[in-house]
Amino acid sequence: MFNWLKKIFSRKTESVASMPIKEEPKRLEKPCRTCGKPIFYDPSWEHIPNYCKECKRKYQDEHSIPKIMKRKCLDYGGKGYAYEAAHAYFDYLFNQKGIRRIYAYTEDYNVPSQRLCERLGMRREGLFLDFVSFINNPDGTPHYENTVQYAILKREWK
Ligand SMILES: CC(C)(COP(=O)(O)OP(=O)(O)OC[C@H]1O[C@@H](n2cnc3c(N)ncnc32)[C@H](O)[C@@H]1OP(=O)(O)O)[C@@H](O)C(=O)NCCC(=O)NCCS
Repeated sequence: MFNWLKKIFSRKTESVASMPIKEEPKRLEKPCRTCGKPIFYDPSWEHIPNYCKECKRKYQDEHSIPKIMKRKCLDYGGKGYAYEAAHAYFDYLFNQKGIRRIYAYTEDYNVPSQRLCERLGMRREGLFLDFVSFINNPDGTPHYENTVQYAILKREWK
């Protein structure tokens, strides 16, 4: 009985000893370029990250669609398509849906958008100073935009 146990124990010891030792992956630390939180990485990786997962995801969410839109606008801008589409939509809203008034907001520096509103016959009704904020200043405070309001009534639509 004792010999039998000894045999099993020695076999087990041998098999564990012969197993290859798995090296712990080397983990280094660096700060995220956006928020400064630590990022842990293995120097053997092909790509060493500069941003933490949360900041990377936030950046992708904020930039993926505008990038595509910008490219598309460059391809099709300045050809009258925006006017044609907006004109047809206004016509539908006023004449089919019985809408009484349409208004539009645009930033004071967005000249193409203001020209489009004016081509559609919209009136410039006012300028709201420091109206809305989409981004922050470098010091972290909200950066407020000046917003122009345009509008047109059904009775003004021809
Ligand atoms: C706002 C926006 C849609 C306007 O687009 P746009 O290309 O300037 O508008 P249109 O398609 O109506 O094109 C009008 C221009 O094409 C010119 N054009 C050329 N051929 C034309 C044609 N056959 N018929 C009519 N206009 C023509 C017009 O003269 C006009 O130029 P102008 O503005 O220098 O006078 C565009 O600038 C845009 O997508 N901007 C980014 C997003 C944005 O700012 N959205 C609004 C947020 S408030």
